[in-house]
Order: sequence, then structure tokens, then C-alpha cells
Amino acid sequence: MWLELGFGGGEHLAWQAAQNPDVGILGCELFINGVASLLRHVREQQLAHVRVADTDSFRVLSALPPASIDRAFLLFPDPWPKLRHHRRRFVRRDVLDLLASVLTDGAEFRFATDHAEYCTWALARVLNHVAFAWTAESARDWRQRPADWPPTRYEERAIAAGRRPVFLTFRRLPRH
Ligand SMILES: C[S@@+](CC[C@H](N)C(=O)[O-])C[C@H]1O[C@@H](n2cnc3c(N)ncnc32)[C@H](O)[C@@H]1O
Repeated sequence: MWLELGFGGGEHLAWQAAQNPDVGILGCELFINGVASLLRHVREQQLAHVRVADTDSFRVLSALPPASIDRAFLLFPDPWPKLRHHRRRFVRRDVLDLLASVLTDGAEFRFATDHAEYCTWALARVLNHVAFAWTAESARDWRQRPADWPPTRYEERAIAAGRRPVFLTFRRLPRH
């Protein structure tokens, strides 16, 4: 079972579902037009193994059983650039604790952003968490999107605007 948090228009989720017919994929999104867009992909491509939660990702993470998700995606979350809004950022200690709980040992957590300061913020917090390790071995590993990671709508807009996204893959370390 895989989980995408804030899937936007759902194009990444639908692509993953089409490529991975044996994996159940759950997506959460608050934006109703995004949910409708994903449902259109689901219907057109007959993706019967997709489930959609049109609610807050935090609620979904809180409700999932421990060690139930093998891969999680958080792609281009809102960066909340103003200092007074930083507490709204989704990458924070309580969310990482929940994520660490629902991920299976060895699970991947994929994160992307086009916002340099949010990248630093997220890296600092994830690497400071005992449950996660960053898999990158060279700059290429975070500068280039892996082949099994299609672009999202937000990413395409960021590149068109001249921003350079980063692609971070973390591993959930084994529980002792
Ligand atoms: C900048 S957009 C990126 C969308 C998509 N991941 C992409 O790359 O195109 C951030 C998305 O996260 C959604 N979002 C923000 N907070 C959320 C939350 N707590 N739960 C679910 N979705 C959320 C927003 O509605 C929005 O669609």
C-alpha cells in the first residue's frame, strides 16, 4: 500500500497506479477540484486499486494502522514562505512521528520541493528524526527526478518559472 499526501491534480498518483497494478494507492487531498481531477484519471484508466480521502493528510496519517504503508509521497507541499506561517509547514516533528509510525521498515518517503529554504528546513527535520535516513549518494540523486517518478503539474509550473526542484528520497529505518 502506498500513500500520496496532497496529490494536487493527481497526475503523479494516477501514473504510479497505472505502472503498479499490484499496489493499492491511497491519496489525500483537500482541494475538491484536485480530487475531481484524480477521479477523472481513475475512471478513464480504470484504476480500481486507488482510494481517495478528500480530507486532511494529518487525519489520514492519524487513522492508519502502524506499519501499513510501503511508500509515501509528499510532492511540492505548500512552502509557507513567510516566517509567521512556518508552523503550517507539513514537514514537522509531529507529522514525521506519525509518518514513521505508519511506514513499514525499509519503506521509502519521497519528497520534492522547488523552494530552497523549505528544502533545507525539511532535510534538517527529517535527518534529525531517528526513523529516517536520506538515500542520496551523490548530487545527481537529488537533482534529477528518478525514472519512476513522473512530473507533477506543480513541478512543471515551477520549472517553467525558472525554479529548480529537488527530489529527496528517505528510507524508514528498521524498528529494533
Ligand atoms: C503546491 S500544491 C502541490 C500539489 C501536487 N502535489 C503537485 O506536485 O502538483 C500542494 C497541495 O497540497 C494540498 N494540501 C495542503 N495541505 C493539505 C493537507 N493538510 N491535506 C491534504 N492536502 C493538502 C493542497 O490542496 C494542494 O493541492
